[in-house]
Amino acid sequence: MAQLFDRSSNALARMSLVLTGLIVIALGVTLDQLQRSPWVTRQGQRADQPVPFSHKHHVEGLGLQCQYCHTTVEKSSYAGIPPTKTCMNCHAQIWTNAALLEPVRHSWATGESLAWTRVHDLPDFVYFSHEIHVNKGIGCATCHGRVDQMPLMYAQNTLQMEWCLDCHRNPAKNLRPTSQIYNMAWQAPSRDRPVWCAAAPGETGVPTAQSVRCTAVDPAAAGVQLASLAWSPSAPHPLTGADSAAALPVALAYRKFTSQDDLGHFLLDHYKIKSPKDLTSCDTCHR
Ligand code: HEC
Ligand code: HEC
Ligand code: HEC
Ligand code: HEC
Ligand code: HEC
Repeated sequence: MAQLFDRSSNALARMSLVLTGLIVIALGVTLDQLQRSPWVTRQGQRADQPVPFSHKHHVEGLGLQCQYCHTTVEKSSYAGIPPTKTCMNCHAQIWTNAALLEPVRHSWATGESLAWTRVHDLPDFVYFSHEIHVNKGIGCATCHGRVDQMPLMYAQNTLQMEWCLDCHRNPAKNLRPTSQIYNMAWQAPSRDRPVWCAAAPGETGVPTAQSVRCTAVDPAAAGVQLASLAWSPSAPHPLTGADSAAALPVALAYRKFTSQDDLGHFLLDHYKIKSPKDLTSCDTCHR
């Protein structure tokens, strides 16, 4: 049979088909990447704010605790943004003439709140709560990064569903003692930097997370002076306000942990963390 098209045009047709295919794929990949790009998720971007508030100055420089300003982070779904009054605790005396602080003084004088631009903002159809994460051993820095090093706030993570699920599938890799929630510099235990933890027996009536005590000082070497086993003896337990050893019976058996995997699984049990199956089911986050 005579060929309708010669070989070269056949090759051309095939080539253009392949090209069209490639273009479609490339477009798909681009759109997908666009949807995940910082341009859409705003990851890493500094928002325009009425006042260039620096976490680095106020947290690292002045040593303020997160809860000083984000007062509801342990007890409600919202961490909360501080009212102007909180700023005026200091700025009524310090930097009272600084032009940078004019919006703060204006807000204080008129009673109009400062209009902060939200950096993290989940869609309304997603349920999220700080309370449960913070009380079950997820540190601020795990989700928000080194806030104490941020001159201007930005989102360290995308807050996309994949990001939530990545942890919900295997929370053990991110669990830390609840006493370390605010510690921006917390590092997972290792051979050189072990952590010892003890859990009070189940029936003490203390909420699960608080019945676990951890320390970076070898309890045996410390001569079982329980009070000195706190991470920092002068720091009260951030969740209970109690002295870190006070509420526990004395005879605690401490276990040594030299890896995040071991510590994570110990905490998983004692904090009574739900199974990955429950944590990844759709109605956990979409109610
Ligand atoms: C002196 C008060 C103060 C302290 C202390 C403070 N913050 Fe903030 N924080 C603010 C203010 C004001 C904002 C809103 C302006 C901004 O985004 O920078 C904010 C915003 C944030 C945001 C972003 C909120 C959003 O819009 O999504 C996060 C996350 C945050 N803070 C975490 C922390 C953490 C973690 C600590 C402790 C290491 C901390 N903050 C300590 C005052 C404070
Ligand atoms: C515990 C006291 C204290 C509180 C509370 C406080 N500040 Fe400050 N702030 C300071 C001091 C001290 C400085 C000077 C820091 C420096 O330059 O080292 C400062 C500096 C600043 C500056 C100048 C830029 C910078 O970071 O150096 C801005 C803007 C500012 N604060 C905004 C705020 C706002 C907004 C709030 C409330 C959310 C607030 N501050 C709460 C003590 C405080
Ligand atoms: C499991 C991850 C996670 C942890 C842990 C976490 N956050 Fe958040 N944070 C978020 C998400 C997600 C949002 C956005 C919430 C929204 O849009 O409803 C947010 C929002 C915020 C905001 C903005 C105001 C608000 O409540 O929505 C502040 C302030 C904040 N976080 C501070 C903190 C502090 C302080 C800690 C530690 C005590 C902390 N966060 C721990 C994920 C986390
Ligand atoms: C770094 C780890 C981590 C990240 C990231 C994380 N979570 Fe969680 N989440 C946990 C842990 C741990 C629990 C506590 C589970 C428990 O108590 O059994 C939890 C619990 C929850 C619960 C309560 C579940 C229940 O049944 O009460 C909701 C809702 C939730 N997370 C939503 C989110 C959303 C939405 C995101 C993303 C924006 C997110 N989480 C990101 C670790 C994480
Ligand atoms: C751990 C919390 C969590 C769980 C579990 C979860 N989602 Fe989501 N989902 C989110 C978050 C957060 C977003 C918002 C993502 C964003 O803003 O980009 C989202 C967004 C969505 C969207 C909107 C489209 C999109 O991708 O932005 C759909 C549809 C969705 N989820 C379906 C589901 C289904 C179906 C399941 C069960 C298989 C599920 N989700 C389980 C947290 C969760």
